Amino acid sequence: MNQEQNNQTTKVVDQSQRPLRDLRISVTDKCNFRCRYCMPEEIFHKDYQFLQKDKLLTFEEMERMVRVFVQLGVEKIRLTGGEPLLRKDLPVLIEKINQIEQIKDIALTTNGSLLKKHAQALKDAGLHRVSVSLDSLDDERFGRINGRGISVSTVLAGIEEAARVGLGIKVNMVVQKGVNDQDIVPMARYFAEQGHTLRFIEFMDVGNSNSWELNQVVPSRQILEMIHEEMPLEPVASDYFGEVAKRYRYQGSDTEIGFISSVTQAFCSSCTRARLSAEGFLYMCLFATKGYDLRTSLRDGTSDEGLFRYLRGLWDGRTDRYSEERLSMTKGISDKKVEMSHIGG
Ligand code: GTP
Ligand code: 5AD
Ligand code: SF4
Ligand code: SF4
Repeated sequence: MNQEQNNQTTKVVDQSQRPLRDLRISVTDKCNFRCRYCMPEEIFHKDYQFLQKDKLLTFEEMERMVRVFVQLGVEKIRLTGGEPLLRKDLPVLIEKINQIEQIKDIALTTNGSLLKKHAQALKDAGLHRVSVSLDSLDDERFGRINGRGISVSTVLAGIEEAARVGLGIKVNMVVQKGVNDQDIVPMARYFAEQGHTLRFIEFMDVGNSNSWELNQVVPSRQILEMIHEEMPLEPVASDYFGEVAKRYRYQGSDTEIGFISSVTQAFCSSCTRARLSAEGFLYMCLFATKGYDLRTSLRDGTSDEGLFRYLRGLWDGRTDRYSEERLSMTKGISDKKVEMSHIGG
């Protein structure tokens, strides 16, 4: 077994010597948006069966899982969805996680539509920061992308309120060729003025329903050049091992931008992330075809020690590095991959 012992934790590394640091917890599979690249309306229509309440992990079960995961080295929690703010009383969960001493960072990934209403309660509960998804500043395009006609101003109001209450903010833009590439420079300009970090995400082949094609990806390098021409950039050193985004700063300013280049510059070699779905399945890669049922163990009387041993064995055996393998595959993965709305990106 690859492990390093100290007083409180048994830090485990996987088959590529990668430690386990981050746990991303999806709190619901529902979303009030229907982004085509994630939950296309044809599949996630009004009769689509989302998870029943008894299938969802309770906050108590999530807290228990986090307490076991910290013993394996987890320090960072990110709450995701679907749209996590659709889960009732989310601040109650945040309060519980915030009391766990080993957790140094609690973040939330959201579409921002309900953020104005909830920002203060999230901050009061102990949330540190939010990553808000926004793919365009043009109302018509954004309404089409989110599939529900939600306006840009709704999301901007959420970002503004989050900043006002003191939450850290990052904005995520998924770039798709021919869909929103004309928004790259306007988005960079707007968020540079606002002083918020904007990150460009290369469109990925997550799940089975987003009809991904490599030619829809705008490589980060190209985006960087477009922005650098108008607003010169300089690189910023990485903050920590396993950081997903490559960071840059506008010359003469503290404002940063980032690039998440899962397709053209895969970062699997430092991937420290595990994902827990809303129904309590553990996935060791965003592109996993298999999840491990923890809900049953949580409900059948398995002890914390038993859960700990099970998780340690899973991480110890981990070999996932899908993004590094993607470009050498001739036709992608044939098994069904987990949907993005189940594990929150
Ligand atoms: P920070 O803690 O702020 O660095 O957050 P983060 O970048 O890990 O989290 P966020 O949810 O904002 O991630 C942004 C996007 O990056 C995700 O939605 C995914 O699209 C992508 N991403 C994050 N982690 C991974 C990963 O492990 N693999 C791949 N391929 N993409 C990832
Ligand atoms: N490719 C890249 N990013 C995606 N996201 C959702 N689907 C995809 C995809 N196919 C992003 C969302 C959000 C985060 C949860 O993941 O826009 O920022
Ligand atoms: Fe909802 Fe986010 Fe998926 Fe869009 S990308 S449908 S906002 S979960
Ligand atoms: Fe980690 Fe899988 Fe993403 Fe690679 S593709 S960085 S292993 S989640």
